[in-house]
Amino acid sequence: MPNRYAIANWKMNLPPEGVEKYLGALGDAKGGGALVVAPPFPFLKDVYMQAPKSVGVAAQNCADHQAGAFTGEVSPSMLRYCGARYVILGHSERRNLFREDDALIARKLALAIETGLTPVFCIGEDQNARDRGKQSIVVSDQIKVVAGAVPLTAGEIVVAYEPIWAIGTGRNATGPMVAEMVAEIRAALGRFWPPQFAQNAPVLYGGSVTPENIDDLIGSGNVDGFLVGGASLDSRKFLAIAAVL
Ligand code: PGA
Repeated sequence: MPNRYAIANWKMNLPPEGVEKYLGALGDAKGGGALVVAPPFPFLKDVYMQAPKSVGVAAQNCADHQAGAFTGEVSPSMLRYCGARYVILGHSERRNLFREDDALIARKLALAIETGLTPVFCIGEDQNARDRGKQSIVVSDQIKVVAGAVPLTAGEIVVAYEPIWAIGTGRNATGPMVAEMVAEIRAALGRFWPPQFAQNAPVLYGGSVTPENIDDLIGSGNVDGFLVGGASLDSRKFLAIAAVL
């Protein structure tokens, strides 16, 4: 299992230069971390087929059921069929724009793990919580509420700290801010999740990561990698970020 990650979250975008060219460029990757690409559903198989074999495939979401009358949903086993090894769950855009609550995220997490997918579990406070100094309580609660969904037998779970105020805003958390939150997150994992995850879960940072701020984040952030949105749409920027891992 890799313990350092650069994950490209394309969201509902395509890289401007096109999927095939983007994926081909990933062959030039440097750095010691695993490269993972999370495209929209229709491109999962393209990433699986066209990216270098070392590149992992992630879905951006999954259903909390394996099959049935759930129009518009995609199940974890379907994602596996398309070559996905990872699934992003609990992203703040899912929580806020699509009203996903903790109970739903917990069900998705359990089913994803049962299906053999590695969840990339996203947590993070909003601006209001940060202004009131409540960021540690928010992430600790987010970790606690899904604890029951994490089976003792689970393989790897990746945790991504993504403060909502930093996502897509160009205003990233600084390395020291991230380090403080990573310590809080590891402590909460130790309190609520099976013991092996407190030690071993890679903790990533996401929120306006760019090649320009990566030195500070990797130098003092104490993170195991990055979940990258906007900057990941340009393969050169994504590779520059991955190169520091
Ligand atoms: P951003 O997005 O890098 O564009 O801030 C990160 C994310 O939402 O995962």
